[in-house]
Formats: sequence, C-alpha cells, structure tokens
Amino acid sequence: MADIITKDIDILEDGLLYCYPDILKILLKDKTTGKNILWATKDYERNGEGFEEYAEIQMYCITGLFATEIQPRATKPKEIQTMRIKTKAEVFTPCWICNEQNNLIDDAWFGRKNVFNTPYGQSWVTTSDPIVFDDTRTWKQYVDSKRLEITCGEAPYLVSRYDAASGAYLPVLQRIGLLDRKLRVVCENCNDENEWYKWAIRAFQSVYGYEFQGDSLLIARENLFYTFIDYYKYKFGTAPSLDKLKKIANIISWNIWQMDGLTCTVPYSCHSVEVRDRQASLFDDGTVECKPCPGCEKNDMFSHNGIYCKIKDWRDNSPLLYVSILQRRKSK
Ligand SMILES: C[S@@+](CC[C@H](N)C(=O)[O-])C[C@H]1O[C@@H](n2cnc3c(N)ncnc32)[C@H](O)[C@@H]1O
Repeated sequence: MADIITKDIDILEDGLLYCYPDILKILLKDKTTGKNILWATKDYERNGEGFEEYAEIQMYCITGLFATEIQPRATKPKEIQTMRIKTKAEVFTPCWICNEQNNLIDDAWFGRKNVFNTPYGQSWVTTSDPIVFDDTRTWKQYVDSKRLEITCGEAPYLVSRYDAASGAYLPVLQRIGLLDRKLRVVCENCNDENEWYKWAIRAFQSVYGYEFQGDSLLIARENLFYTFIDYYKYKFGTAPSLDKLKKIANIISWNIWQMDGLTCTVPYSCHSVEVRDRQASLFDDGTVECKPCPGCEKNDMFSHNGIYCKIKDWRDNSPLLYVSILQRRKSK
C-alpha cells in the first residue's frame, strides 16, 4: 500500500484514491439514504452535469482527468469565500478560539482548568505531562464521553490538522480538537497496538458532526480520516493497515453526516405534495392543490415530510433518528 504525505492541508482526492483504494467510496456515502452525499452548494455547477446543487457527489467528479478539486475554505479563491459567507454563513473559527471553547468543555468534565493546554494570547502551551485521571473520572470514561459539533464545516472543533481560518498546519502534539484530545489520552494509556486500536475506535465513535454543504462535509470526513493516520504513525511509526482504515472510514461516514440542521432531514428532501380536492374531483375537473411540507410550513421540527437523518449509537450498535433525540429532550 502506498503512503500519502499528510502534511498538506488540501487532501487531493486522487491521492486518497491511489493510496487508500475504497476509502473515498466509503467517505462519500450517506448512511441515511444509502446513496452518496449531495453537493448541496451551487459552487461547482459551472462544471456541468453531475455538479448540480441537488446531485450526489460521484467519484468521477472529484478524481481522474476531468475532476474538480475540492479545496478547504482557507485555500478557496476570495470571491468564493465571500459568496459562501452570504449563502451559508460560512466563516470558520480560528484554532485558538476552538481551543479556548474546547477547554471550557474539559474544565467542566475534569472539574479543573487548562488540563490539555494553557492559552497564551492567540496561541497555547501544550501540557507536557500525561493527563491525570482519578477513580471517579477515568480515561476510559473520557474517551467514551460524547461530543457533537453542530454545523461543523471542516470540523475545526473536532480535529485540528490545520487552522481552518489561516490554513496553517499543526503538528500532532499541538492539536486541540475534541477528538485530538481523546486520541492523546489513548496514546498515553495504551501501548499495546490492539488495545490502542480498540480505544481509538471508541474515540471516533464518540464524536459527531453534521454539515449542510457536501464539499465541506467531505473535507471534514477526510480531516478525521487523516487524523487517525497521523496519530497511528505518531504512536507506532508506521501506516495502519487498509482493514483498520476501512473500519475507521465507516465510523466517520456515520458520525459526520449531511443534514439540514433546521429540519433534521437530508438537504432538499422536504417536498410539496399534490392533494386532490375530493369535492372538486367529483366533477372531474382535475383540481389539484399543492401543499408544502407541513414541518416547513409550520416551522415544526417534528412534522417534516423529508427524510429524517439516521445516526448510530455505537454502544447499542443501533441506528436512530437524530430528531428523536431532540424529541426525547423536548418531552422531558
Ligand atoms: C460559521 S460556519 C461554522 C463552521 C465550523 N463549525 C466552525 O466553527 O468553523 C457555519 C457552517 O454552517 C453550515 N450551515 C449553514 N446552514 C446550515 C444548515 N441549515 N444545516 C447545517 N449546516 C448549515 C455552513 O455550511 C457552514 O459550514
């Protein structure tokens, strides 16, 4: 198996296909529909058929001779960045802000401050000693504790291979993402490779993110995928096997999913329905009324007619609708 240089912030899909056959196929899957994720942005429509906002992202669109390149926001042309701010409020948070907010989550979890690093202006100093746990808060509980980045873009709160705002690459020891922290803890507590892999899997299973736009979502998935390789290489000095990579890619394509967060459904799946007026049809004048999706009409999260997105609770090993979690919370 070839090895890819992972220090480039812009992961080339051709390189991914060449080095890790089958992985890109998995990273393009939408687990709710069983199809591929959608472009869900007009930015690529100029490339013609197959690049429409509503189309699935097919392999041929992003690999091979006539492929279009999917770039992280930081390397996209300025006019495209501006357009994406207007249409989807796309502004990515600088790494040092992600760090300070992630620190707040950990302050609450550990009951003490600055566990993983100490902020220093727009930077931070990484804690060099291993992270200390106790009997009431064990490292295994930390790895298993669930985290979600809503509207995740390229997932800068989960992983920090690069600063999403500036594009600067960050070495493993300086990373600040929620998944980075879990993988650090796994590295510090597991020396046996099987044990390390078991807990790395659990770390990936515990972090979630959703995003509307397909290109950002694919980049987020690639970022998590390369994060696994980065930590594996950091710990063991070699590249992981293809079987291990496939398993990780499958978890990522479940946990980092495409969703319209306003409806909890697959983008564009809410639809109008034709309703025949029974009274009118008595006279067979073909009167048909077009009714909008009830959830969209009433702005009610729980009555959309689109496809509600599925996620997975890995501890139960069962899929569930994301909206059902909100429903449960509402009825409490
Ligand atoms: C301000 S960016 C934040 C991205 C990332 N979380 C960060 O902090 O850098 C907002 C993201 O929300 C996404 N977004 C906008 N509307 C959305 C919706 N209805 N559902 C899901 N994601 C949406 C955009 O595509 C964009 O990636």
